[in-house]
Parts: sequence; C-alpha cells; structure tokens
Amino acid sequence: MALRVCVIVLLAFVVLTGTTDRPLHAECSVEWTFGIPCNSVYLELVTQIKAWKTADNCANGGEKCLYTLKSANEHYIVAEHTTPVRKYVDNLTFKLVSSFDKRSCSVFGFSVSELWYAVFDFGTNYCNLHNLIEGSGLDKVSGYSESTSDSKCTQYSSANCTIY
Ligand SMILES: *[C@@H]1O[C@H](CO)[C@@H](O)[C@H](O)[C@H]1NC(C)=O
Ligand SMILES: *[C@@H]1O[C@H](CO)[C@@H](O)[C@H](O)[C@H]1NC(C)=O
Repeated sequence: MALRVCVIVLLAFVVLTGTTDRPLHAECSVEWTFGIPCNSVYLELVTQIKAWKTADNCANGGEKCLYTLKSANEHYIVAEHTTPVRKYVDNLTFKLVSSFDKRSCSVFGFSVSELWYAVFDFGTNYCNLHNLIEGSGLDKVSGYSESTSDSKCTQYSSANCTIY
C-alpha cells in the first residue's frame, strides 16, 4: 500500500516536472529596459526596497512588503523577500548595465526560492521582481520594456501580483 502511494507520487512528480518547458526549481529571470540612466534606476529600486521593509504594506493582503536590502551599488543590487504568511525567503538580484551613451539602462533581474523543493510558486518569484518595478513607477518611464517567458520564469503567464 505504502509502496503504491509512493509510486503514484513519483509518477505524478515525473509527469508534472517532465512535460512543461520551465525552470525545474521555482525561480524567475526578467530583463527590462529603461530610457533613463542606470543611476536613476538604481536609486528608484533601492528606495522601493527600503520603503517595503516592514510588514505594514501587506496589512490588507498582497506581498508588497518584507524586502531586505543585502548590498547595493550602481551595478548590482542584492535583496531578499520574505512571504508574509509562510515566511518563505526568496533571493533577489538586479544587474544594471548602462548603454554606451549612458542614457538608458538594461536590468537583469533574478529571483529564486530558497526552499530546494519548491517547484511551483504561483508566480511569486516574478512578482517579487515586478512589484518593485511597478511600485517605484519604473514601469512608467520612457522606453520601458519587460521581457520574460514561462521557460525562464516559473508560472509567469498565470502570475497575479495583486495577490503574490
Ligand atoms: C540565498 O542567499 C543566501 C545568502 O544571502 C545564500 O546562502 C543562499 O544559498 C541563497 N539561496 C539560493 C537558493 O540561491
Ligand atoms: C488578481 O487577484 C485579484 C484579487 O483577488 C482580483 O481582483 C483580480 O481580478 C485578479 N486578476 C487577474 C488578472 O486574475
């Protein structure tokens, strides 16, 4: 009996993980372009991470809170995000690359869940990143674009960042 359950669980795992084109672990890579200098992007992101440090902004739900800035310079930002209810910790990095004329900035964002067995995340890793962009208003600057896909970002196309 126990063996049969085991086999079914294993089969379910193989079917769930083997058939779709997506990261094996819950994680998300996103690339953005902003038509403003990296220095400004850097300041906006760091300010937003600090503004959402406490749980206050999640009093009415959502996960736009509990960010911790680990280290930051104009080229690389490291932060953590903790989910308010279950306290899962995700690691976030932003790599900022200036254009040659220094008038626009490309940013490579990455979020990964610390739990080694996390396979699905309901788009949390995407929202960890996107919420900061939206919260800081960087999605409204000229020349803004965002690029990712389900193969680089767990459950991207079904993510609802109002909730996560
Ligand atoms: C997250 O960052 C911590 C250090 O801040 C590191 O020890 C840990 O391995 C990282 N986890 C993942 C999944 O990258
Ligand atoms: C996301 O969730 C909120 C809150 O439950 C809901 O109002 C909204 O319609 C959802 N958006 C999408 C695109 O499903």
